[in-house]
Amino acid sequence: MAEQTWDAVDAYFSERLVGHDPVLEAATAAAEAAGLPPIAVAPNQGKLLHLLALTQGARRILEVGTLGGYSAIWLARALPADGTLITLEIDPAHAGVARANLARAGLEKVAEVRLGRAADSLAALVADGAEPFDLVFIDADKQSNPEYFARALELTAPGSLIVVDNVVRRGAVADPESDDPAVVAIRRLHDLIAAEPRVSATSVQTVGSKGYDGFTLARVQR
Ligand code: SAH
Ligand code: DHB
Ligand code: MG
Repeated sequence: MAEQTWDAVDAYFSERLVGHDPVLEAATAAAEAAGLPPIAVAPNQGKLLHLLALTQGARRILEVGTLGGYSAIWLARALPADGTLITLEIDPAHAGVARANLARAGLEKVAEVRLGRAADSLAALVADGAEPFDLVFIDADKQSNPEYFARALELTAPGSLIVVDNVVRRGAVADPESDDPAVVAIRRLHDLIAAEPRVSATSVQTVGSKGYDGFTLARVQR
């Protein structure tokens, strides 16, 4: 099956179910103009995150890995007016683009970009006794996924949902011999989840305009 077909199907679904969205299109254009890599979630994936946040009735959302704020806009749009999204980003240029994109989307009151190493920002949230988040989206440096997942467990409560992007890596996740640090970490994440009685989880493969990859969904049970 050609990647061309995946693109055509993504374009079809996005045209039918996402439609023309000037704010999101401006966010993508601004990210591209600033030279950010084109690795944001696809429009139909962004809408999936949005629907998951709505289904959660999310009032507090945490994102690890902001880039230009594309997925943050989708997630923050699911929040009530007094809701909160905190998104963590290490690169000041990415954070700058994201802040401008979130402001253009009218979300500056609910969405906050925190600059720094995500591991440090997560440790600070835990140390500050942050209220539990209803949804956590993990989408930063893949080799840190086990640590981010452990922190997400500390920052959530029963009923919360943890979503992890890019867990398939063109199928490399199934290779126990892989020495790619991202793949090793994603496999370690699955070991952690498998041994974790506090969550019920599944992972699904995806194809589309962002290639062949996938998501893990873990619901905090207790
Ligand atoms: N969630 C975004 C895409 C994020 S891309 C979207 O779908 O729109 C991954 C981002 O994680 C990049 O912006 C990268 O700079 C950031 N990142 C990488 N390592 C990081 C770290 N250690 N701490 C915080 N952010 C990091
Ligand atoms: C990469 C990162 C992502 O978050 C993504 O969705 C796709 C690719 C990357 O680092 O290559
Ligand atoms: Mg990603």
